[in-house]
Amino acid sequence: MDTIDLRSDTVTHPTSAMRAAMAAAAVGDDVYDEDPTVHALQDYAAELLGKEAALFFPTATMSNLTAVLTHCGRGDEVILSHKAHIFEYEQGGASALGGVVYRTLPVNFDGTLDLQAIEAAIRPDDVHFTRTRLVCLENTVNGCGGTPITAEYTDAVGELVRKHGLKLHLDGARLFNAAAALNVSPERLVRAADSVQLCLSKGLCAPLGALLVGSKEFITQARRVRKVLGGGMRQAGVIAAAGLLALQQMRQRLIEDHYTAQLLAEGLAEIEGVRVEPVHIRTNMVFFHLPAGVDSDAFVAELKARNVILRGRSPFRLVTHYYITPERVRYALSAMREVLARLRVAA
Ligand SMILES: Cc1ncc(COP(=O)(O)O)c(C=O)c1O
Repeated sequence: MDTIDLRSDTVTHPTSAMRAAMAAAAVGDDVYDEDPTVHALQDYAAELLGKEAALFFPTATMSNLTAVLTHCGRGDEVILSHKAHIFEYEQGGASALGGVVYRTLPVNFDGTLDLQAIEAAIRPDDVHFTRTRLVCLENTVNGCGGTPITAEYTDAVGELVRKHGLKLHLDGARLFNAAAALNVSPERLVRAADSVQLCLSKGLCAPLGALLVGSKEFITQARRVRKVLGGGMRQAGVIAAAGLLALQQMRQRLIEDHYTAQLLAEGLAEIEGVRVEPVHIRTNMVFFHLPAGVDSDAFVAELKARNVILRGRSPFRLVTHYYITPERVRYALSAMREVLARLRVAA
């Protein structure tokens, strides 16, 4: 990648090893369940998370939607954070397409939902109410700055959910960042979850792809839901080959992205007037406010002219990934210093 693209870890391109594996991949018709590379990826993911089975998807959004629609029927209710990606950024898909009702709860700064609040939101069996079926958690918690949530907290939610005969789905789009940050195995982090969504195309560099992991019975049902959503793929082994490398080789290095996020945060904090939100920097995301009076659009445009790509307005979110080396962080910081000095003079 030529530019220093800090908008998201979704911007990562496939590595050369991935491109070679894709070219050489053995393939078959995956709707007939005959693609050997898809099988290899699904088996690997299921084993990695200590679950029985997995299913390959083109996107994390479709994987999450399939999970909710498999757990819930029309009129059923799902409890989740008001900042959950599933609620905020997936077009309310389970409501739009499956008649599922979202019940949101306020999320704490550390990414958790209060256990008492979850319990209080669970509906009693009464003809007036929807039926609560599912609780969704996210790890890392995107809406809380990429904060990882612990295995113990997830266990506690799992226990609560089981006590009430519900299910627990975990949106693990960045689960391996959480595992790296907490120094815990991914399997341990998801032990209490009935289903887990894993994304291969964020910090792990696969060009696309996600997985849904759970029991054999759940995955059999999910396969039907994926098909009706238009997610039955054919020779998908070509992309699964990159996904396998993502899981086998790329997740172990995510701690490097956490290190570059720290470097970025420390450098930003040294720039006069810039305010970094240090409480959030646990994984690969950095949030910062521009000095008062500096125009966000001008800042973004001036940086773009220097090959540094940001998105949005102050407070900005920067995300580190495979293509953001310490050297590139240093370049981005010097570009930001220079741009801010210019914009201050102009203001
Ligand atoms: C936590 C989380 N879940 C799900 C998704 C959906 O991923 P995609 O847009 O690749 O389908 C994202 C995307 O950034 C995400 O951050």
